[in-house]
Amino acid sequence: MFYYQLLKYVHGPLEPLATWVLPALFFLGLLFWPFLDRNPARQPAARPVALASGTAFLLLVFVLLGVSLRDLQSVPRADPAVARGKTLYAQFGCAGCHRIHGGGGAVGPDLSYVGDRRPERKWHLRHFRDPQSVSPGSIMPKFPLTDQQISDLTGYMLTLRRPT
Ligand code: HEC
Repeated sequence: MFYYQLLKYVHGPLEPLATWVLPALFFLGLLFWPFLDRNPARQPAARPVALASGTAFLLLVFVLLGVSLRDLQSVPRADPAVARGKTLYAQFGCAGCHRIHGGGGAVGPDLSYVGDRRPERKWHLRHFRDPQSVSPGSIMPKFPLTDQQISDLTGYMLTLRRPT
Protein backbone atom coordinates (compact mmCIF):
# COMPACT_ATOMS: atom_id res chain seq x y z
CA MET A 1 0.00 0.00 0.00
CA PHE A 2 2.79 2.45 0.80
CA TYR A 3 4.48 1.67 -2.48
CA TYR A 4 1.26 2.06 -4.41
CA GLN A 5 0.93 5.51 -2.85
CA LEU A 6 4.41 6.37 -4.10
CA LEU A 7 3.45 5.28 -7.61
CA LYS A 8 0.61 7.80 -7.57
CA TYR A 9 3.16 10.64 -7.51
CA VAL A 10 5.25 9.29 -10.37
CA HIS A 11 3.86 9.59 -13.87
CA GLY A 12 5.00 9.62 -17.48
CA PRO A 13 8.66 9.13 -18.31
CA LEU A 14 9.55 8.66 -14.64
CA GLU A 15 7.24 5.68 -14.26
CA PRO A 16 9.85 2.97 -15.02
CA LEU A 17 12.01 4.55 -12.34
CA ALA A 18 9.36 3.83 -9.72
CA THR A 19 8.11 0.52 -11.10
CA TRP A 20 11.49 -1.08 -11.95
CA VAL A 21 14.58 0.84 -10.95
CA LEU A 22 13.73 1.66 -7.33
CA PRO A 23 12.47 -1.83 -6.37
CA ALA A 24 15.47 -3.44 -8.14
CA LEU A 25 17.90 -1.17 -6.32
CA PHE A 26 16.13 -1.84 -3.03
CA PHE A 27 16.32 -5.62 -3.29
CA LEU A 28 19.85 -5.58 -4.71
CA GLY A 29 20.78 -3.38 -1.77
CA LEU A 30 19.26 -5.87 0.68
CA LEU A 31 21.01 -8.76 -1.09
CA PHE A 32 24.42 -7.13 -0.92
CA TRP A 33 23.98 -5.46 2.46
CA PRO A 34 26.08 -8.08 4.31
CA PHE A 35 28.95 -7.42 1.92
CA LEU A 36 28.55 -3.63 1.88
CA ASP A 37 28.22 -3.14 5.63
CA ARG A 38 31.19 -4.93 7.22
CA ASN A 39 30.89 -3.12 10.53
CA PRO A 40 31.20 -5.88 13.18
CA ALA A 41 29.61 -3.78 15.95
CA ARG A 42 26.21 -4.92 17.29
CA GLN A 43 25.42 -1.83 19.39
CA PRO A 44 22.84 0.33 17.51
CA ALA A 45 24.70 3.47 18.61
CA ALA A 46 27.83 2.23 16.84
CA ARG A 47 25.97 1.83 13.52
CA PRO A 48 24.68 5.31 12.70
CA VAL A 49 24.39 4.79 8.93
CA ALA A 50 22.39 1.57 9.17
CA LEU A 51 20.23 3.04 11.93
CA ALA A 52 19.58 6.27 10.02
CA SER A 53 18.73 4.57 6.72
CA GLY A 54 16.49 2.03 8.44
CA THR A 55 14.66 4.75 10.35
CA ALA A 56 14.30 6.92 7.24
CA PHE A 57 12.89 3.97 5.32
CA LEU A 58 10.34 3.10 8.01
CA LEU A 59 9.37 6.75 8.31
CA LEU A 60 8.73 6.90 4.57
CA VAL A 61 6.67 3.70 4.74
CA PHE A 62 4.45 4.98 7.55
CA VAL A 63 4.00 8.46 6.10
CA LEU A 64 2.96 7.01 2.72
CA LEU A 65 0.74 4.47 4.44
CA GLY A 66 -0.94 7.26 6.40
CA VAL A 67 -1.56 9.31 3.25
CA SER A 68 -2.87 6.22 1.51
CA LEU A 69 -5.32 5.41 4.31
CA ARG A 70 -6.50 9.02 4.35
CA ASP A 71 -7.14 8.86 0.58
CA LEU A 72 -9.04 5.63 1.08
CA GLN A 73 -11.37 7.35 3.56
CA SER A 74 -12.42 9.89 0.95
CA VAL A 75 -13.33 7.33 -1.71
CA PRO A 76 -17.11 7.51 -2.13
CA ARG A 77 -18.75 4.34 -0.88
CA ALA A 78 -21.06 2.45 -3.20
CA ASP A 79 -24.69 3.08 -2.23
CA PRO A 80 -26.24 -0.24 -1.09
CA ALA A 81 -29.61 0.82 -2.54
CA VAL A 82 -28.02 1.05 -5.98
CA ALA A 83 -26.52 -2.41 -5.61
CA ARG A 84 -29.94 -3.80 -4.63
CA GLY A 85 -31.50 -1.99 -7.60
CA LYS A 86 -29.01 -3.67 -9.92
CA THR A 87 -29.91 -7.07 -8.51
CA LEU A 88 -33.62 -6.37 -8.95
CA TYR A 89 -32.98 -5.29 -12.53
CA ALA A 90 -31.52 -8.73 -13.20
CA GLN A 91 -34.18 -10.57 -11.14
CA PHE A 92 -37.15 -9.00 -12.92
CA GLY A 93 -35.65 -9.52 -16.36
CA CYS A 94 -35.64 -5.84 -17.28
CA ALA A 95 -32.85 -6.62 -19.73
CA GLY A 96 -35.39 -8.60 -21.77
CA CYS A 97 -36.66 -5.24 -23.05
CA HIS A 98 -33.96 -2.72 -22.15
CA ARG A 99 -30.32 -2.28 -23.04
CA ILE A 100 -27.64 -0.83 -20.78
CA HIS A 101 -24.37 -0.27 -22.66
CA GLY A 102 -25.17 -2.81 -25.30
CA GLY A 103 -26.49 -5.70 -23.13
CA GLY A 104 -30.20 -6.53 -23.41
CA GLY A 105 -33.27 -6.28 -25.62
CA ALA A 106 -34.55 -3.44 -27.79
CA VAL A 107 -38.29 -3.50 -26.99
CA GLY A 108 -38.03 -0.56 -24.58
CA PRO A 109 -35.74 2.47 -24.64
CA ASP A 110 -31.99 2.16 -24.08
CA LEU A 111 -31.39 2.89 -20.40
CA SER A 112 -27.63 3.56 -20.57
CA TYR A 113 -28.16 7.27 -19.80
CA VAL A 114 -31.73 7.26 -18.50
CA GLY A 115 -30.60 9.27 -15.45
CA ASP A 116 -29.81 12.20 -17.77
CA ARG A 117 -33.02 11.95 -19.73
CA ARG A 118 -35.25 11.38 -16.72
CA PRO A 119 -33.50 12.88 -13.71
CA GLU A 120 -36.63 13.13 -11.56
CA ARG A 121 -36.96 10.60 -8.80
CA LYS A 122 -40.71 11.17 -8.64
CA TRP A 123 -41.16 10.29 -12.29
CA HIS A 124 -39.50 6.89 -11.79
CA LEU A 125 -41.43 6.13 -8.61
CA ARG A 126 -44.72 6.74 -10.44
CA HIS A 127 -43.51 4.95 -13.56
CA PHE A 128 -42.52 1.80 -11.67
CA ARG A 129 -45.76 1.81 -9.68
CA ASP A 130 -47.73 1.99 -12.92
CA PRO A 131 -45.93 2.66 -16.23
CA GLN A 132 -49.12 3.71 -17.99
CA SER A 133 -49.80 6.50 -15.48
CA VAL A 134 -46.88 8.51 -16.90
CA SER A 135 -46.42 6.85 -20.30
CA PRO A 136 -49.91 6.29 -21.69
CA GLY A 137 -50.08 3.15 -23.78
CA SER A 138 -46.77 1.81 -22.39
CA ILE A 139 -46.34 -1.93 -22.79
CA MET A 140 -43.93 -2.06 -19.86
CA PRO A 141 -45.49 -4.41 -17.32
CA LYS A 142 -46.69 -3.22 -13.94
CA PHE A 143 -44.32 -5.30 -11.80
CA PRO A 144 -45.41 -6.46 -8.33
CA LEU A 145 -42.79 -4.30 -6.62
CA THR A 146 -42.68 -3.22 -2.98
CA ASP A 147 -42.04 0.44 -2.16
CA GLN A 148 -38.53 -0.50 -1.11
CA GLN A 149 -37.87 -2.27 -4.39
CA ILE A 150 -39.25 0.68 -6.37
CA SER A 151 -37.00 3.01 -4.44
CA ASP A 152 -33.94 0.80 -5.03
CA LEU A 153 -34.64 0.46 -8.76
CA THR A 154 -35.12 4.23 -9.00
CA GLY A 155 -31.82 4.77 -7.21
CA TYR A 156 -30.12 2.55 -9.76
CA MET A 157 -31.81 4.29 -12.73
CA LEU A 158 -30.62 7.70 -11.49
CA THR A 159 -26.99 6.55 -11.49
CA LEU A 160 -27.14 5.75 -15.21
CA ARG A 161 -25.66 9.01 -16.48
CA ARG A 162 -23.07 10.20 -18.91
CA PRO A 163 -19.73 10.62 -17.17
CA THR A 164 -19.10 14.31 -16.48
C1 HEC B 1 -42.02 -5.96 -21.85
C2 HEC B 1 -40.89 -5.08 -22.01
C3 HEC B 1 -40.39 -4.31 -20.82
C4 HEC B 1 -39.93 -4.81 -19.62
C5 HEC B 1 -39.82 -6.25 -19.18
C6 HEC B 1 -39.48 -3.67 -18.86
N1 HEC B 1 -39.68 -2.51 -19.56
FE1 HEC B 1 -39.13 -0.65 -19.00
N2 HEC B 1 -39.99 0.12 -20.65
C7 HEC B 1 -40.58 -0.61 -21.68
C8 HEC B 1 -41.13 0.30 -22.67
C9 HEC B 1 -41.87 -0.11 -23.94
C10 HEC B 1 -40.87 1.60 -22.22
C11 HEC B 1 -41.27 2.94 -22.88
C12 HEC B 1 -42.63 3.39 -22.39
C13 HEC B 1 -42.59 3.80 -20.94
O1 HEC B 1 -41.98 4.82 -20.62
O2 HEC B 1 -43.16 3.09 -20.12
C14 HEC B 1 -40.12 1.44 -20.95
C15 HEC B 1 -39.64 2.51 -20.21
C16 HEC B 1 -38.79 2.38 -19.12
C17 HEC B 1 -38.12 3.46 -18.47
C18 HEC B 1 -38.21 4.91 -18.88
C19 HEC B 1 -37.17 5.10 -19.98
C20 HEC B 1 -37.26 6.42 -20.65
O3 HEC B 1 -36.24 6.80 -21.20
O4 HEC B 1 -38.33 7.03 -20.64
C21 HEC B 1 -37.41 2.94 -17.44
C22 HEC B 1 -36.53 3.69 -16.46
C23 HEC B 1 -37.64 1.51 -17.46
N3 HEC B 1 -38.48 1.21 -18.49
C24 HEC B 1 -37.10 0.64 -16.54
C25 HEC B 1 -37.44 -0.72 -16.50
C26 HEC B 1 -37.01 -1.59 -15.46
C27 HEC B 1 -36.12 -1.21 -14.28
C28 HEC B 1 -37.56 -2.82 -15.72
C29 HEC B 1 -37.48 -4.08 -14.89
C30 HEC B 1 -38.08 -4.00 -13.56
C31 HEC B 1 -38.27 -2.70 -16.97
N4 HEC B 1 -38.18 -1.41 -17.39
C32 HEC B 1 -38.92 -3.74 -17.60
C33 HEC B 1 -40.63 -1.98 -21.76
C34 HEC B 1 -40.24 -2.86 -20.76
